[in-house]
Amino acid sequence: MRLKSLTALALAAPASALLRFGCSQLVVERLDPLVNPGLNPSPHLHQIIGGNAFNLTMDAASGDIAERATCTTCQFSEDFSNYWTAVLFFRARNGTYYRVPQIPNVGFSGQTGGMTVYYMQDGLANYQQTSKVTAFKTGFRMLIGEASYRNKAQSNRFRQITYTCLKDPGTRFPESMDFPKVPCPAGIMANVRFPTCWDGKNLDSPDHMAHMSYPETGTFESGGPCPASHPVRVPQLMYETIWDTAAFNAQELWPEDGSQPFVWSMDDTTGFGSHGDYMFGWKGDSLQRAMDSPCYVNCPTLKTQAIAEMNKCAVPNTVDENYDGWLKALPGAPRSMTGMKA
Ligand SMILES: *[C@@H]1O[C@H](CO)[C@@H](O)[C@H](O)[C@H]1NC(C)=O
Ligand SMILES: *[C@@H]1O[C@H](CO)[C@@H](O)[C@H](O)[C@H]1NC(C)=O
Repeated sequence: MRLKSLTALALAAPASALLRFGCSQLVVERLDPLVNPGLNPSPHLHQIIGGNAFNLTMDAASGDIAERATCTTCQFSEDFSNYWTAVLFFRARNGTYYRVPQIPNVGFSGQTGGMTVYYMQDGLANYQQTSKVTAFKTGFRMLIGEASYRNKAQSNRFRQITYTCLKDPGTRFPESMDFPKVPCPAGIMANVRFPTCWDGKNLDSPDHMAHMSYPETGTFESGGPCPASHPVRVPQLMYETIWDTAAFNAQELWPEDGSQPFVWSMDDTTGFGSHGDYMFGWKGDSLQRAMDSPCYVNCPTLKTQAIAEMNKCAVPNTVDENYDGWLKALPGAPRSMTGMKA
């Protein structure tokens, strides 16, 4: 069944098996248990959603996060996975930074901050959603994107890590690989799509990417086959994060040289450094069951929880620093750390 309120969106075409759900904010803090396990604080700030087992150390030895977590900020209450991205800041003419608020997508009002998450059997254009996909396994994790990238030539390595300049909340096209260059009245939507072919063996790899691959040709959307090295077709995982830039859109607030004023928490003013992290944490076989049974928005095989319950789940910020108000530097001052003095 489809939500009437979504009919304005491109994806409101008659998909029969596609998970699209909201997750409220779990915490915003400078931790990265995938890339920098045990390091408090990590080099740059993240915004995190999902189960409350999120902590500094989430190695294989700490067990199934679906068993450790006791609540989740996601609408599907059997999903204790953690999902995170960098954090967007506005840089004022006077050089101070303000964290850009996050707002929920169309259809998810009431959700505090957070993101929209998708798991797809087929590309959005294939409304039947009939392809067989293998759900991620307990302990699986991955990363896509490279925080240090600053130009198109570098980020061409990744497909479909993009931005949508929202003219209104339903805008879906066009997408750009770098930050929009003009003010976006309804915010900037950051889209992160993960690779869809798994080597079938490794739950992780040293760079958190090598155990995964894009299809051999084309994309998941175009039905490209998986390469022999990574033969297992997994769901297309995708994040949408809507950064509410409306308060920062006045021309007199933008730099005099006409450049755009937004910057990722790793001091990326280009947008090419966008990245997303994932730690699988669905309980038991709930994700596989969902991917094997037609569901879209309403998913009878899965348990759901009310938005008020999603919003209640949180973990305390374990890093002793302030991220709110006008900041003299980005948390962790990544600019000076990379030797690029302001
Ligand atoms: C993270 O969770 C694991 C498993 O519950 C636990 O052993 C570890 O002490 C936790 N680490 C922190 C820093 O809380
Ligand atoms: C810096 O600029 C912002 C945006 O114009 C303003 O709100 C803030 O008060 C300014 N801070 C200082 C220290 O001037």
